[in-house]
Amino acid sequence: MNEYEEIDYTKSFDFSLWKKLAGFMTKHKKPLIILLVSNTLIAVLDITFPLVTRYAIDNFIMLGDTSNMGWFITVFAVLFFIQAVNIYLFINEAGRMEIGIVYDIRKTGFKKLQELSFSYYDNTPVGWIMARMTTDAQRIGDVLAWSIIDLVWGFGIIVLAFVSMFILNAQIAVRLLAITPFLIAASVFFQRIILKGHRKVRKINSKITGSFNEGINGAKTTKTLVREGKNFEEFESLTSSMRYNSVRVAIVSSILMPTVLIIGSIGVANVVYSGGIQVMTGVLTFGTFTTFVSYSMQIIDPIRQIARIFSDMQSAQASAERTFSLIESEPDVADSPEILKIYGDALNPKPENWPKIVGDIVFENVGFAYKTGERVLENFSLNIKAGEKIALVGETGAGKSTIVNLICRFYEPTEGTIYIDGTDYKKRSQIWLQSNLGYVLQTPHLFSGSVTENIRYANLEATDEEIIEAAKRANAYDFIMKLPDGFNTEVGEGGNRLSSGEKQLVSFARAILSNPVIFVLDEATSSVDTETEQVIQTAIDRVLKGRTSFIIAHRLSTIRSCDRILLIHDGKVVEEGTHKELLRKKGQYYDLYTNQFKEEAENRLLTDR
Ligand SMILES: Nc1ncnc2c1ncn2[C@@H]1O[C@H](COP(=O)(O)OP(=O)(O)O)[C@@H](O)[C@H]1O
Ligand SMILES: [Mg+2]
Repeated sequence: MNEYEEIDYTKSFDFSLWKKLAGFMTKHKKPLIILLVSNTLIAVLDITFPLVTRYAIDNFIMLGDTSNMGWFITVFAVLFFIQAVNIYLFINEAGRMEIGIVYDIRKTGFKKLQELSFSYYDNTPVGWIMARMTTDAQRIGDVLAWSIIDLVWGFGIIVLAFVSMFILNAQIAVRLLAITPFLIAASVFFQRIILKGHRKVRKINSKITGSFNEGINGAKTTKTLVREGKNFEEFESLTSSMRYNSVRVAIVSSILMPTVLIIGSIGVANVVYSGGIQVMTGVLTFGTFTTFVSYSMQIIDPIRQIARIFSDMQSAQASAERTFSLIESEPDVADSPEILKIYGDALNPKPENWPKIVGDIVFENVGFAYKTGERVLENFSLNIKAGEKIALVGETGAGKSTIVNLICRFYEPTEGTIYIDGTDYKKRSQIWLQSNLGYVLQTPHLFSGSVTENIRYANLEATDEEIIEAAKRANAYDFIMKLPDGFNTEVGEGGNRLSSGEKQLVSFARAILSNPVIFVLDEATSSVDTETEQVIQTAIDRVLKGRTSFIIAHRLSTIRSCDRILLIHDGKVVEEGTHKELLRKKGQYYDLYTNQFKEEAENRLLTDR
């Protein structure tokens, strides 16, 4: 169980949350005003119709005088027409507002997701984020646009009907009023059970989805471990519990409606009985009597609806809590408002104010931990001159990626300072640094779209010539031209129509196009074939000239030409120097290198045969 499972929210009305939600509604002023006015009018007219009928019955029908019926029909028709327009406005504007609200929430969320630091993604499952931006955003929009407005209508009908009834005949009105608490109690009681049931079903549903996911992703592992039977049992227990709870909800829902109707008809019967007696004794006109019968039926539905709306609001509140927890998370790596004012933010950068970056990097007593207490770097100091080509080598988990992540400011030091060109990099903005960075990872990410679009991602203003030039410099041009549509070839989702070597070449071209001052290659050639590695290697040697660069590589043959090699162990630099110096020293690097060299030579012999 972790905090990202579907949580039960039982908290009662959360005022501050609804204040924020109201903000999303009031942003759409025009539709909101139209909705409030049209719904009030709908309620007023709903209550007026029985009064018009009353007038007609008492003044024309009961007196047997039909000469004025034409007028009556005209008034009725006009009222109906107004009502039709109202309902049209209501549905139209509520739909508009729903779309607007969902759009606003998603836009705010999407923007936030761009700002959030790597640490957020380390700790938050993607599925959780997706659910907040889809289902939850939709539910909030739905409730704010439709349900809340329904409340205006529902309360309007109930209040106006009773006001009208008390004016017409207080005695019968009181009799009907006595029924309403039971009506409300029954509605609330059943809605509570239904809501609880829905929540349970949703919770089981997300477990089932998770189990599907694991089942599909882990299908091979399951087969090799012969776990099918056990998995199926677990799955079946989830689905049967889902069925049990769904059926329960359906049963309760089917009881709610008749119960409300029964209580409601007791009210109607009451009115008919006492009203009927009064008609016979001549206290009540027949017109007023029909009005009461109409009202007593009219108030049943709003009461039932209001109970439903309150439970809708409860689940919208739960959705809002989760969505706001995303929208309001603060990125760990953030620029201060003063800095943003000078440098601009990602959406409105002000590159004219950016100092030119040279590429000197200094680590001064840097300490870093991903999670408090688990120190990865401690008192780490390092001095790198602009244009230096640095290699980081060492076993897995030594801290190599962490060091370059800190340079890129994907994370910030927990202690100490990193200076770029002599200034603490926290005193400048992230985009300033990151727009001068080229970063190639072991598993490059391409976006669906063409090869050109993927390369252009680094610099949207780049011309086609510049893109071709970048591809040539990355040694990617030859393979791209061999693709079915050349540069216009679609790469598929995540670039899955290209081999991993080809993906790497495209991502390398992309990094080159941004013309970075600082270049980072984190195991860029580790998962490509030897041939592609050679191709990338010659491109690297050419491209990195004059840039401060960091190469992390397992195959030590690829880093021989670096200006300085740092052997990292347990977050510390244990050996440092050029390839030659380190070999001469006959230390750990020498051992690593000679071992790898021997292995490679053996492999070559084996494959050559
Ligand atoms: N996102 C992360 N969250 C928590 N711990 C991490 C994270 N990334 C790396 N670590 C830990 O930090 C240490 C150094 O990792 P890393 O810098 O990736 O090593 P290398 O790149 O040398 O293989 C390892 O112990 C690793 O488990
Ligand atoms: Mg690494």
